[in-house]
Amino acid sequence: MSFLTKGESDAYLRTYYAGESLDGEDTFLLQGTMDGLRLAATPTGEPLTCIELGCGPVLAWAMCAGVVADRVWLAEASTSGREAVLDWLRGADGAFDWDKFAGHVAVLTAGTDGGAAAGGAGAGADGSTSSDALPAAPAPRATSGGVQAALRGAVVAVLDARLTPGGVDLTHVASPGPEGWAGPAAAAPVTTAGGVATGAGIPERFRAVVMHSVADAITETVEAFAELVRGAAALVAPGGVLVMSANTDVDEWRAEGKAFRQVRLSADQVTDAVVSAGLTVVMSRLRSKTDKHTTTETDNTFVLAARRPAE
Ligand SMILES: C[S@@+](CC[C@H](N)C(=O)[O-])C[C@H]1O[C@@H](n2cnc3c(N)ncnc32)[C@H](O)[C@@H]1O
Repeated sequence: MSFLTKGESDAYLRTYYAGESLDGEDTFLLQGTMDGLRLAATPTGEPLTCIELGCGPVLAWAMCAGVVADRVWLAEASTSGREAVLDWLRGADGAFDWDKFAGHVAVLTAGTDGGAAAGGAGAGADGSTSSDALPAAPAPRATSGGVQAALRGAVVAVLDARLTPGGVDLTHVASPGPEGWAGPAAAAPVTTAGGVATGAGIPERFRAVVMHSVADAITETVEAFAELVRGAAALVAPGGVLVMSANTDVDEWRAEGKAFRQVRLSADQVTDAVVSAGLTVVMSRLRSKTDKHTTTETDNTFVLAARRPAE
């Protein structure tokens, strides 16, 4: 599955990201992403590199990367998804408005909505369960505008990304030129394979790899899912962290009228795939939707952070 047209990518945004306010699944995933990224910070404070794989047309989770990471790569398989991301980076008329998500990230960085406290071990306010120990929260960036500016300043490039069994192909698509994102791409496209990216300024490994609703959404067997997780994990630097979420206990997901089949997974199967890929789970949280759920909330959402052992 990949968004074939702008219409499909817009339908996806309207379905999951255009509500009047964030729902419980949104805030759960923003908190999980923020906390997972904080676990990727190096003890010595070296610059934190982050790639989001399969971001689609979505910048919700990248808002977290923008405030925690120093350099961010946004990678997506579909042209329409990448175009939506580039429209937002360029500040184009008609670009999707991520203000609500950025505003919530601002609150999280300011530590006024739980911050480190909500990220600690035990049950979350929204019925989720967790097990993790977190370092201190990042420096406050307390406005939505500040969060969006941080992300725009941190994005190094937009890439084409193809998860393959056990690897990832990354192709450079665009970087900000002298005239900003409106200018020409800074480097010629370079295709890489096997999870090892070279050329065009793409690092071979990243301190943080973020992947939400990708490997689960595009596979139909547990084995194929595990192979794609292994591919994503191949990009994680020693000591770095994979932050990923999956919709568990479902067979399909929808964008407006169109249904997409996906693998039915338990949280344990997601964990097993990550561990088989050589990573150690350092945070995991499962959320079940509450009585007050919105129509697009998933019954059970699982988010985890898993570390590649240092060499
Ligand atoms: C369900 S969407 C998730 C989008 C976004 N991450 C989110 O959280 O809403 C799945 C995404 O995976 C992308 N995708 C499809 N095939 C892929 C592949 N082989 N490698 C990487 N991404 C892929 C799709 O284009 C789509 O953007």
